[in-house]
Amino acid sequence: MRIAAKTRNQRRGTRIVLTVLVLAAFFWPVGAMPSLANGLAVTPPMGWNSWNQVGCYGLTEQVVRDAADALVKTGMRDAGYRYVVVDDCWQAPTRATDGSLRPDPARFPGGIAALADYVHARGLLFGIYAVPGSRTCAMASNAYPASGIGSLGHERQDAELFARWSVDYLKYDWCDADTVDGLDRKAAFTTMRDELARLDHPILYAISEYGASSPWTWARPVANLWRTTNDLSPDWASVLSVLAQQADVAGYTGVPGGWNDPDMLQVGNGSLTEDENRAHFSLWALLNAPLFAGAAPDKLTAANLATLGNREVIALDQDFAHGQGRRWSSSGDAQVWGKPLSDGGFAVALLNTGTTPTPISTTVPGTWRVRDLWQHTDTGSATDVVSATVAPHSVTLLRLCRQAKSLA
Ligand code: GLA
Repeated sequence: MRIAAKTRNQRRGTRIVLTVLVLAAFFWPVGAMPSLANGLAVTPPMGWNSWNQVGCYGLTEQVVRDAADALVKTGMRDAGYRYVVVDDCWQAPTRATDGSLRPDPARFPGGIAALADYVHARGLLFGIYAVPGSRTCAMASNAYPASGIGSLGHERQDAELFARWSVDYLKYDWCDADTVDGLDRKAAFTTMRDELARLDHPILYAISEYGASSPWTWARPVANLWRTTNDLSPDWASVLSVLAQQADVAGYTGVPGGWNDPDMLQVGNGSLTEDENRAHFSLWALLNAPLFAGAAPDKLTAANLATLGNREVIALDQDFAHGQGRRWSSSGDAQVWGKPLSDGGFAVALLNTGTTPTPISTTVPGTWRVRDLWQHTDTGSATDVVSATVAPHSVTLLRLCRQAKSLA
C-alpha cells in the first residue's frame, strides 16, 4: 500500500541519515572550518629547520647552505623535504635606522636575499622566523641580547621585506607576547595573516603558541599549521608526552591546508635510538604532521637517512583521507594508533612504549593484504585482526590494503 510504502521509505531514509551522521561523527572533524585560502600546505609541508640542530648562536649562513646542499645530495629533497627554514637568532640585535630587520652581520655576511637565492637555486624553498610581540623566544629566555626585533608595530614592513627576500615560509612564534606585550593570540596571528595576504608572493604561514589557547579550535582560517604542544626534546619521554597530547586534538583535524603541528622532528638527535627514531617518525606520519628534519642533513647516519627517507612512511604522512591518525587503544605499554587511507585501506601503528617485547593486536574489520613499512615486506593477509610482538621502545607500522574476497 502506498502509505505503508512511504513509511518504509521514510524509515529507510531515517536509517540512512542516522548512518551518515554516525559515520560523519567518526570521520568528520569536530569544528571543521575552511582552511586559510592561500593554496599552500595542501599536504603537510616537509623540510629542515635550524633550531633542533644548532639552536641560537650555532646558526650561520654556512649551516643553512650545508643543509640545503645535503638535502639535495641525500635525496631528501626528492623525497619531499622542500622547505629550508632559518629559525630564531638570524636577526641582528637591532633594526636598521629605517626600521627594517637585518641579519646578524657576523653570522650572515651575505645577507638573507642571497641565502634565499642559494636555496632556491637547489630546487628548495626558503623559510624564516619572526614573532608577533617584542621579544623572540631566545630573547625571552635571555639567550639572545637584542631589542626591538619582534614584529609588533612592524608587521607590514616585515611581511613586505620577507616578500622582497623571496621568503616562502614564515614561522611566527608566540614566546611571551601575552605577558610582555599584552597581545591576544588570535588577533595577533590574524594581523600577520592579513599582511601576508596582501603580498604578491605566497608565504606558507606556520604559527606556534604551544597549544596554550587550543589553536586547533580557531586557527584553521588563520594559518597553514599550528603547534599543538610545547617543544619536543630529543628523548623518548618527550616523544611519548607530545604524542599523548595528540590524542586529544585528533578530532580537530580537517581539510588539507591546515595541520596540527606536534613540533619538528628530533630524528637523529639527542638520546633517541634508531628504534625510537622510527617510532617517532611513524607516529608523526600517522598524525599528518609537518615533517621538519632537525638534525644536520650532512651528518645523518645511514640509519637516520633510511628513517627520514622511508618513502612508504612519508606517503602515509602525505595521505589525508578522513582525518589524521588517532589513538585506537592504550593499555599498559601497548598503544595502537591508526588512520584511514585514501585507497580505502588503513595505516596501523602498534607501539610498545615499554622496555620488554610486547604482543600487540587490534581489530580492523575486513580482509587485508598487510605490508610492514619498516621491513619493506608484504607479510601476508589478515582478517579482522592484525597483531605483532613489538620490540621495546619500538613500533610495527603496517599498511592494510583491501583484499578482494577469494572466489574459491
Ligand atoms: C620556541 C619554539 C622553538 C624555537 C625557539 C626559538 O621555543 O617553540 O621551535 O623556534 O622558540 O627561540
